[in-house]
Amino acid sequence: MHHALLVGLAATTAAAGHVSIPFSRQKFSHPRAHVKRDDEPFALEALNNITGGGYYSEFAVGTPPQNISFLLDTGSSDTWVNSVDANLCNSQSQQATLGFCQTQFDPEQSDTFEMLDRGGFDITYLDTRNIQGDYFEDTVTIGDMEIKEQQLGLALRSVRTTGIMGLGFNINVAADEPYPTIVDNMVEQGFIESAAYSLYLNDLATDAGNILFGGIDRNKFVGDLAVLPLIRDATFGSTDITSFNVKIEGFDLRDPDGNRAVDLTDLKSGAILDSGSTISLLPDGQVQDLWEELGVMSFQNVIAPFIDCAYAGEKGRGYMFEFRFDGKTIRVPMDEMVIDAYADVQDLISQEPSFRDWDGACMFGIGSTGDFGIDNDQFTLLGATFLRSAYVVYDLANEQLAIAQANLNSTDSDIVEITSGKLPDVTGVDRSSANDGLNGAGADEDDDEDDAAAGIAPPAMLALTALGLLGSLMVAL
Ligand SMILES: *[C@@H]1O[C@H](CO)[C@@H](O)[C@H](O)[C@H]1NC(C)=O
Ligand SMILES: *[C@@H]1O[C@H](CO)[C@@H](O)[C@H](O)[C@H]1NC(C)=O
Ligand SMILES: *[C@@H]1O[C@H](CO)[C@@H](O)[C@H](O)[C@H]1NC(C)=O
Repeated sequence: MHHALLVGLAATTAAAGHVSIPFSRQKFSHPRAHVKRDDEPFALEALNNITGGGYYSEFAVGTPPQNISFLLDTGSSDTWVNSVDANLCNSQSQQATLGFCQTQFDPEQSDTFEMLDRGGFDITYLDTRNIQGDYFEDTVTIGDMEIKEQQLGLALRSVRTTGIMGLGFNINVAADEPYPTIVDNMVEQGFIESAAYSLYLNDLATDAGNILFGGIDRNKFVGDLAVLPLIRDATFGSTDITSFNVKIEGFDLRDPDGNRAVDLTDLKSGAILDSGSTISLLPDGQVQDLWEELGVMSFQNVIAPFIDCAYAGEKGRGYMFEFRFDGKTIRVPMDEMVIDAYADVQDLISQEPSFRDWDGACMFGIGSTGDFGIDNDQFTLLGATFLRSAYVVYDLANEQLAIAQANLNSTDSDIVEITSGKLPDVTGVDRSSANDGLNGAGADEDDDEDDAAAGIAPPAMLALTALGLLGSLMVAL
C-alpha cells in the first residue's frame, strides 16, 4: 500500500467530498473558543504565493518541451501533471474555490507521448486530496538532462492547481507495480551517479531554495552532516523502507532564558522529512502541551492551528525549537514557526473573539497528527517549517538521510558529487562564518568539526531553483 504524505495548507470544505479524515477527532486546545458564528461553515479564500506555502520547480515534459511547475514532494513518489483536459482546469467555479490552474500538459502537442494505463492513476494524499487519471510516459527535460520514457501521471480529475514531483522511493508509487521514478531514471540514464539529492529551502523570509540532484553543497550548511539511517514506518504497517523516516530522539521548546519551556523527551517516534507538507505534525499527546504554552488555538475543520502574530516579533524573540536526532540538533527560531498566511483576510479573522488580544492571527508551524486521523504516537511529520532550518541530503541509494543546520541566504556554492557507495565525508561552513539565523544561541555539543575530504569538481549535477509559491488557501472556519 502506498502512502502519500503531502499536507497542504488547505482544510478545504471542497476536499471533504473525497475524504476519509474524521474531523470529529479534532481536539480543541481551548474548548471555550468558538469561531463559528452561525452553524454554517464559511470559507475564506486567501492569497496565492504566500511565503511558506510550498516549494515549486519548473521543468519540461514532452517533445517539444512544455514547461510545467511542480510541487517538490519528498513525501510521495509519483510525478504527475494536470492535463489540459483536467476537470479543474476547465471549470471556473472549481478554480474559484481551489485556485487558478497553473501550467498544464497537452498530450496532443507531444511527439513522444505514449499512453501506458488509461484510468490507472489514482492517488490520495494525507491531506485527503485525491487525484485521478492515466499513466503515460514521455520525455522529461530538467536543465540539461533529457530523461526518456519517464512514467508520469496525467491528472484528469484534479483538485490541485499544479502537478507534483514525487521525490520518494519507487516502492511507494500509487501504481500496482513499482516503476522507476525521475530520480531512478536520472541514475539509470547516466545523469547522476547515485540516487540522492540535497534539499535547501532557505528561510521563511526568502522565496527560493534549491534541490541539488547527485551532489552536496558545502556552502549551504554548518559543521558536520549527521547520517541517520532510515527506519520502517510502523504507522503504515510496512516491512520495507518506504519513506524518509528517521528516529527522532526528542523535541524541546527553549524559552528566552534557555530553559526548557516544553520538554518532550519522551517523544519516541519516527519522523518523516516531508518537503510537501506546509507545516510539521507531532503526535497529539505532545502537541497539546506545546500549544498550551504558546496559547495556540485550533478549531474544528481548520487543519492549521493559529498563533498570535506577535510571536513573529518581540514576543517570540529568544524562543527556540530544538529537534534532537542522533548526533545532531536542528534549531528552529520562533519566527520561522509563525507564518503570516492570512494577511489578506486578517480583518475577517480578527472578528473572532478568541483572537481579541492578539496582534493578528498567524498560522502556527506545528499541528497535530490527530487532526489527520492518525492516532498513533509513533508518527511525526517534519514539513517545511522544520526543513527551512535544515540542510538535508536524501540518500535513497543507501537508505539514509544526512542533516545539518542550514547556512541561510548562502549565495556561493561548493559542490561535491555523490558517487555510488558511501556518501562523501564533507564538512560545511564554519559556525563562526555561518548565518544560521540563531543569533548565537545554542552553540553546541554535537558538531565536532573534523576536517573532511576536500571538494571534487562538480560533474553532472543540477540545481533546480525552488520557488516558494502557494496554491490557493482555503480555511473553513
Ligand atoms: C502572486 O500571484 C498572483 C496571481 O496568482 C500574481 O498576479 C502575482 O504577481 C504573484 N505575486 C508574486 C510576488 O509572485
Ligand atoms: C521553458 O523554460 C526554458 C528554461 O527556463 C525556457 O528557455 C523556454 O523558453 C521555456 N519555454 C516555453 C515554451 O515557455
Ligand atoms: C535572508 O534574506 C532575507 C531577505 O531576502 C532576509 O529578510 C532574512 O532576514 C535573511 N535571513 C537571515 C537569517 O539572514
